Amino acid sequence: LEAGREALSRLVLDIPDHPEPGVVFKDITPVLSDPAGLAAVVAGLTTAGLDEAGAPRVDVVVGMEARGFILAPPVALALGAGFVPVRKAGKLPRETHAVSYDLEYGSATLELHRDALAPGARVLLVDDVLATGGTARATAELVETCGAEVVGVAVLLDLAFLPWRRALGDIDVTSLLSIE
Ligand code: PRP
Ligand code: HPA
Repeated sequence: LEAGREALSRLVLDIPDHPEPGVVFKDITPVLSDPAGLAAVVAGLTTAGLDEAGAPRVDVVVGMEARGFILAPPVALALGAGFVPVRKAGKLPRETHAVSYDLEYGSATLELHRDALAPGARVLLVDDVLATGGTARATAELVETCGAEVVGVAVLLDLAFLPWRRALGDIDVTSLLSIE
């Protein structure tokens, strides 16, 4: 497992001053283009949706636009679950629930189709990165508004120096790589 983490971390690139001066952006695209890296990430995220006996414990995997859309569908397939998208404002064509949340600068709105999740559905959230946790927190609120249950959040990497834990309260978080 340690060796796997080491190999994975070598595929994540540090991009200084993106998208703005002072930010060191973690570029995960080399993980995705590496066949072993992609397989390891999908397998690792999938474990977040399994119970102790190795059986699926979720009905739906929700992915957040845009990078969650890359990872959530293969995880859903591996779990025998469905995939549901959470999108940025104005993209979903039918009636939605919407949640606005603060970004480092300004704010953003995420939406979920009102009928996308059955009441009581067990839901795993999948994204690439946990930073402030604002995106995952807002998505959890949308899921709960439908009467569905957030079983956990699974990400490729988390930025441990940002306050995502505070944003997510006691939600179960699986992160394959922690950046100190
Ligand atoms: C990034 C990333 C996560 C979110 C993490 O998405 O893919 O969804 O930010 O940050 P947070 O924990 O502070 O919310 P971004 O909003 O840049 O959109 P993109 O996927 O469309 O690039
Ligand atoms: N890398 C990728 N996505 C992100 C980051 C980052 O450093 N911060 C917030 N979203």
